[in-house]
Amino acid sequence: MKFIDEIGRRRTFGIISHPDAGKTTLTEKLLLFGGAIQEAGAVKSNKVKKGATSDFMEIERQRGISVATSVLAFEYKDIKINILDTPGHKDFAEDTFRTLTAVDSVIVVIDVAKGVEEQTEKLVSVCRMRNIPMIVFINKLDREGKDAFELLDEIEQKLGLTVTPLSFPIGMGYDFKGIYNIWEKNINLFSGDNRKNIEETIEISDLSSMDLNDIIGDTAADTLREELELVEGIYPKFEKEQYQNGDLQPVFFGSALNNFGVRELLDCFVSIAPPPKPKESDVRLVHPEEKDFTGFVFKIHANMDPKHRDRLAFIKIVSGTFERNVPYLHTRHNKKLKFSSPNAFFAEKKEIVDISYPGDIVGLHDTGNFKIGDTLTKGEVLHYKGIPSFSPEHFRYINNADPMKSKQLAKGIDQLMDEGVAQLFTLELNGRKVIGTVGALQYEVIQYRLEHEYGAKCTYENLNVFKACWVEAKDQDNDEFKDFKRVKSKFLAKDKQGQLVFLADSSFSLQMTQQKYPSIEFHFTSEF
Ligand code: G4P
Repeated sequence: MKFIDEIGRRRTFGIISHPDAGKTTLTEKLLLFGGAIQEAGAVKSNKVKKGATSDFMEIERQRGISVATSVLAFEYKDIKINILDTPGHKDFAEDTFRTLTAVDSVIVVIDVAKGVEEQTEKLVSVCRMRNIPMIVFINKLDREGKDAFELLDEIEQKLGLTVTPLSFPIGMGYDFKGIYNIWEKNINLFSGDNRKNIEETIEISDLSSMDLNDIIGDTAADTLREELELVEGIYPKFEKEQYQNGDLQPVFFGSALNNFGVRELLDCFVSIAPPPKPKESDVRLVHPEEKDFTGFVFKIHANMDPKHRDRLAFIKIVSGTFERNVPYLHTRHNKKLKFSSPNAFFAEKKEIVDISYPGDIVGLHDTGNFKIGDTLTKGEVLHYKGIPSFSPEHFRYINNADPMKSKQLAKGIDQLMDEGVAQLFTLELNGRKVIGTVGALQYEVIQYRLEHEYGAKCTYENLNVFKACWVEAKDQDNDEFKDFKRVKSKFLAKDKQGQLVFLADSSFSLQMTQQKYPSIEFHFTSEF
């Protein structure tokens, strides 16, 4: 197959949702359709089990699972699909944000009864900022839930999306009869049998035909006609280009558990979702069709074996082909590296591959060369942008608990930060180190891993910080900036890249500081 056709047939996407909306179940059903797995239950959930949120052993167990589910690849109708795993647990939100830099589109799963939830809002807002094309899947139609129109309204209001339903439910919960597929103009009837893989579809080319009444009954047929008329009147017509630009979001209804509405979703997905897109670097826009390889690290996974501190760096290929044993330039280190065993991912296996194409993810064994956001190229010096750090929510001093092991501690902290487990800030005033995390869970993970992988011990000390703000001063020589640095010296730190960060201790003090120093900008992310 020609290089250009290989690119054209790749679809790399992520499924995002609030925990429990059905992401794992949907992923599994998609894999079943792709023939990548044979039975339900094969995909392990990567979520932290309920009630185990403070148990770091559980996190360790999950780390093992999430290596296997990081990338799930399969083929469907000659399309190579790569699903990138996004942790649902809020303490790992930053992992998910980073993974979103490597997807070309997403599917948002929403629980019909719960509607739009907190994590959905956060994740969708990141996708919206980046104009990532989104398809919405409303799940659990076999249960009682919100009225379809009410839910579509809620999605528009809370998520700021412009939706257009491409399928519509016939009844719900106890009365759920099936789905009218607006996209394909046919009806799927619900039998409530989750062992059935592919539902029978009935073609309904003319909605006014009495056949509809015969199939679903007079009342349901009349309601459906009215509702579809409303849909046509209210919602914009589906346009692929608008969807691909992130301006319009098609909506599907179904029940992942019962394998209902999933094939419709997948069929539509493969025909409308975009292949790999060009990506902006610090010097130019790079197109997938370019001959020379470029790619970037969006995730680093530490291995489970503490004796071999090797890690797997996940690279999204942006352009050209990635080949085994070819030297590539690590642009941050200005050093060529060769990889003898790059991994490609299939369903739940990984295998060594000779060649990979734009859109694909390769896993490279790494002994500490990579950090998140690093770029690899055939030789050109460029850096991909767009993997910012977000302000952590929790902050603690980290102290060395074993003076004999300070080197091990420093190395451990350094590598865990490169993996993106947490963020390190060094106070300007006294050089003390502060660890910032999204969730409290990470502190236990760090402590445990420092001890087991690096032989170092640490303790923490509370620190009252509300937000870390990256400081931008256009003129660093003016008196205002000098005054800011002097007055706030206790609250200033450097992040791992050496950028200046203001650790505001309350929202009030941040506000006051902003007012007092109007020429200085305070950002909640490291890229601005
Ligand atoms: P997540 O990855 O988004 O966190 O959700 P997951 O797929 O694990 O689904 C969360 C729960 O919702 C699971 O039940 C799952 O079986 C159920 N579920 C998913 N899709 C549907 C659906 O279409 N209809 C109904 N009724 N339930 C659905 P659980 O009891 O928490 O776990 P399990 O014991 O069934 O695995």
